[in-house]
Amino acid sequence: MTAAFAPSTFDPATLQGNILRGYRLGRVRYLILEVGGQAEDRARARRFLAAAAEGGSAEVPAITRESSGKWAGGARPDTCFNIGLTAEGLRALGVADQHLATFPAEFTDGMTKRAMKLGDFDDSASAHWPAPFDQPRRVHIIASVYADDEGRIDEVQRKIADAFTVLGHRDGRNLAEDKVFFGYRDSISQPRFAEVQDPERSQDSEPVDPLGTVLLGFPNRFEGVLFSVPSPDVLGRCGSFNAFRILAQDAAGFEDYLDAAATRLLAHPLVDQVLEPGGEARIGRGLDRFGALREIVAAQMCGRWRNGVPYETSADAQLPDPPEAAVSLTNFDYSRTSACPAGSHLRRCNPRGGPIVQRIANYTRRLVRRGMSYGPDFDPATRDRSERGLLGNFIGANLGAQFEAVMCDWLNLGLQDPDVTGSNDPLIGANRVETSWFDLRLRDGGSIRLREIPRFVTTRGGAYTFLPSLPAIRYLAGLTG
Ligand code: HEM
Repeated sequence: MTAAFAPSTFDPATLQGNILRGYRLGRVRYLILEVGGQAEDRARARRFLAAAAEGGSAEVPAITRESSGKWAGGARPDTCFNIGLTAEGLRALGVADQHLATFPAEFTDGMTKRAMKLGDFDDSASAHWPAPFDQPRRVHIIASVYADDEGRIDEVQRKIADAFTVLGHRDGRNLAEDKVFFGYRDSISQPRFAEVQDPERSQDSEPVDPLGTVLLGFPNRFEGVLFSVPSPDVLGRCGSFNAFRILAQDAAGFEDYLDAAATRLLAHPLVDQVLEPGGEARIGRGLDRFGALREIVAAQMCGRWRNGVPYETSADAQLPDPPEAAVSLTNFDYSRTSACPAGSHLRRCNPRGGPIVQRIANYTRRLVRRGMSYGPDFDPATRDRSERGLLGNFIGANLGAQFEAVMCDWLNLGLQDPDVTGSNDPLIGANRVETSWFDLRLRDGGSIRLREIPRFVTTRGGAYTFLPSLPAIRYLAGLTG
């Protein structure tokens, strides 16, 4: 971080899309690209970038831009294409060492070197990541292609493959009802910005986030301090950083754990403080006591019921259904007497205005999340163990102060609240059966400590990328050598 300079002017047409506002298309393909090592390879890649930044051509897809609420030409494009570059990618395109040195260390180190901060050890260690993430130095660009129709994605891929070596790809899709494996509705809470009109978020009453939360060169919530803009200015300004993560979810293990927890609770002397006799109907239609206890454990671990209703405002009931009918999914805050456990995924990722040890950090670590699921459908009745999970993008202006701080301090160390310090996030933390715990809140304010929580989420690849502005892409296209 560094002290101030003149803030940028907001011009959405110079920004890549999918940063300030999501596309809401049904499918995505991430193409993991390498710029070839010969001069002609670099020249081909640069020609491609130049054309992509200028609106595309018959051979080159256009970079999709932000348009601050309206899409250029009126309608939302049916295919969207964007790029993020790793530090190796910037180097491969010819960015000088002296300029690379002005990027933050966590970015130039790359994701694999930040393993301890990110919980990437044991089965999540990069040594176990499948190709192409087993060769991080060759991962230069992660291109994303969004569409509802796979044929359109294939078309764009063919064009990209003419300019770069495609090392591999990952396909994602939206699951029904915007759910993720584990059965929760996702993508409800996101930062929002005064400069971006998004009718779907106009009812939110959480504080609006300054643009500097995600864009370099704009003020953020750290008073009087701007995140430093890498050099040269045209390259760094209005850029963003992204943590692209391939996160395998053990959906079967998660459902098994809910069974085990409910079984233990049924035999617990305080079980009526979790669910009073006869309370099952409030939790879900057709649920017996065992099933209702499973849902309460799931809701408290996340901080939302699986249908998206916040536990904080609706601790007694998952219903009414649909949730939008009666309760806001976004307008709530935490307090010292919150119903939502301090150890839940939601309170760890975004403590909102609630009490935390570093009060100054409230609202400073907001992350834009763009995720889709990968792998086959999951049926909780049969619980097969095929690999499936989340292709996640966690976007912000500073990887260290935002993504890594959330991953390390809040998700995996629990430093925000002495009551949870030493425990990991129950849903996605680097848990070990021998040491893990999560305090389930009781109706009278007490708690029951759940233990033996296994690790449900394993890292299977990823990279830190820089999301350049359109002028920055033109700058990269104009490099020589
Ligand atoms: C497979 C891994 C993950 C799963 C299944 C998962 C699931 C969820 C779910 C179900 C929600 C609630 C929906 C919502 O509020 O939008 C949520 C919220 C959230 N998650 Fe995750 N998540 C995962 C990984 C992560 C990671 C790695 C981070 C950050 C480092 C993260 C940060 C957040 C944030 C910031 C929120 C919104 C909290 C709020 O503003 O109230 N998640 N996640």
